[in-house]
Amino acid sequence: MKDHGRERIRIRHAWEGDAEDLLSLQRQLDRETTFMLLEPGERTTTVRQETAQIRRSFDAGNRTILVAEASGQLVGYLEARGGDYRRNRHTAELVIGILQEFVGRGIGTALMSEAERWARQHGIHRLELTVMEHNEAAVSLYKKMGFAVEGRRRDSLFVEGSFVDELYMAKLLDHDVDHPSGTVRREGEKPPGYG
Ligand SMILES: CC(C)(COP(=O)(O)OP(=O)(O)OC[C@H]1O[C@@H](n2cnc3c(N)ncnc32)[C@H](O)[C@@H]1OP(=O)(O)O)[C@@H](O)C(=O)NCCC(=O)NCCS
Repeated sequence: MKDHGRERIRIRHAWEGDAEDLLSLQRQLDRETTFMLLEPGERTTTVRQETAQIRRSFDAGNRTILVAEASGQLVGYLEARGGDYRRNRHTAELVIGILQEFVGRGIGTALMSEAERWARQHGIHRLELTVMEHNEAAVSLYKKMGFAVEGRRRDSLFVEGSFVDELYMAKLLDHDVDHPSGTVRREGEKPPGYG
């Protein structure tokens, strides 16, 4: 294994030119961890579709993809997907994955912190995710970041021959700014068009 100990890790938002590298990273994660959703070879996304997805995340205002880069190589990512409708635009679902060779070096913490900073700036009020119950590193990371377990999806996944429970975890963000879509209102405030 290479010594990456002294390499500087840079966290930044993905742009369209990252599509191919991001896909390779996701495919490598599909091969080396069973803690994410797809099995090896199951990811059918093309570079074109990935590019479009990154573009959509710019346009939506409540979506983003963060990447962790070491010496020009993408070694981890976090995707935040806000809801599509006025009633759930303030809620963003998170997915995170870091290459095995780079885990345990604070990259997960850095990506989650940056996601939270971005979420607060974009009027996101709720961050949520699902995690396999036995994924101790991920559950510890989320608890450390202030996420609470809200529920359990019994037998929701079938992993290497066994049913696995997932936990629902979420964190509510307090912020003073109004939601950009206007869907988060102060008490008593009426939505547009409701006289
Ligand atoms: C889960 C994952 C994102 C954590 O990222 P990471 O970069 O290793 O995390 P960090 O180094 O920032 O560690 C953050 C915290 O996670 C916890 N943690 C990390 N590795 C751990 C381990 N092996 N066992 C228990 N807790 C662990 C600790 O609480 C740690 O905080 P601390 O260092 O202050 O004690 C990463 O391991 C990963 O991508 N794994 C494979 C894919 C995956 O599981 N994705 C999540 C699917 S829900």
